Amino acid sequence: MVYLNGEFIPKEQAQVSVMDRGFLFGDGVYEVIPVYSGKIFRLDEHLERLQNSLNSVQINNPYSPQQWREILHELLGFSSESSQSLYLQISRGADVSRKHSFDTLSPTVFIESSPLTPKTKTELEIGYRAMSQPDFRWQRCDIKSTSLLANIMYSQQAKQNQVEEVILHRDQLITEGATSNVFIVKDNVLFTHPTGNHILSGITRDLVLESAKHCHLSINESALTLTELLSADEVWISSSTREVMPIVQVDNQLINNGVIGKHWPQVYDYYQGLKHV
Ligand code: PDD
Repeated sequence: MVYLNGEFIPKEQAQVSVMDRGFLFGDGVYEVIPVYSGKIFRLDEHLERLQNSLNSVQINNPYSPQQWREILHELLGFSSESSQSLYLQISRGADVSRKHSFDTLSPTVFIESSPLTPKTKTELEIGYRAMSQPDFRWQRCDIKSTSLLANIMYSQQAKQNQVEEVILHRDQLITEGATSNVFIVKDNVLFTHPTGNHILSGITRDLVLESAKHCHLSINESALTLTELLSADEVWISSSTREVMPIVQVDNQLINNGVIGKHWPQVYDYYQGLKHV
């Protein structure tokens, strides 16, 4: 079952107009929210980021936080999976003709839930490979927009090169991954690009920073260069679906001789604890 504009219906029956601006322009915003043991993880933070995205593009939020909560829980009730990933998207809605500018429309709200199976610690401990690319995205990466053409191009490149993620750099500075935030550990300091318009302010990013603090890492929210990343002690990526994942090779360079570092297991364990508080 999916949720579409006020109704819970089978996915095959869910249809939107060809004049929907989400279809024509990618004119919409979205969220991906993990659900663990039936509990929506950090819902308030996700709803707040959703509101920020909506404000940035002048789409009215059709629901109050309480209404969102009720709709999401009702949708979750249709599945017996205890861990799920909620995808919710709001497009500006359908107009009568195609034009770039917009009038006030009735937003299209679509929500679906799919099973979420995060990788186990044993699987993650092997470490993953990534590649680097110049960040050619626009300058409003803080908006969680459904216009994801650049991210799609990078993700396809990752798939074709059989790596987990593409790590992006703008003017030599590491921004984030195509679908994740990036962390670099060097000499017991955790570096990550500051929030702002060049990255998406990841909900998992905040949780990784919180976990790292408890694991006695110093935090420095400033961007490092690709050269610095390649000589780091540890590199991690984070997202709601990946949690915190160690990267042991970027391009042809092994990180920490290709083995995960000492901080990742501690941060990983702390993060797992946060899921069940
Ligand atoms: N993407 N940066 C980008 C560009 C992302 O697409 C994502 C997540 C993140 C991490 O954000 P969070 O920790 O809130 O998931 C950072 C989601 C998972 C997606 O597009 O499917």
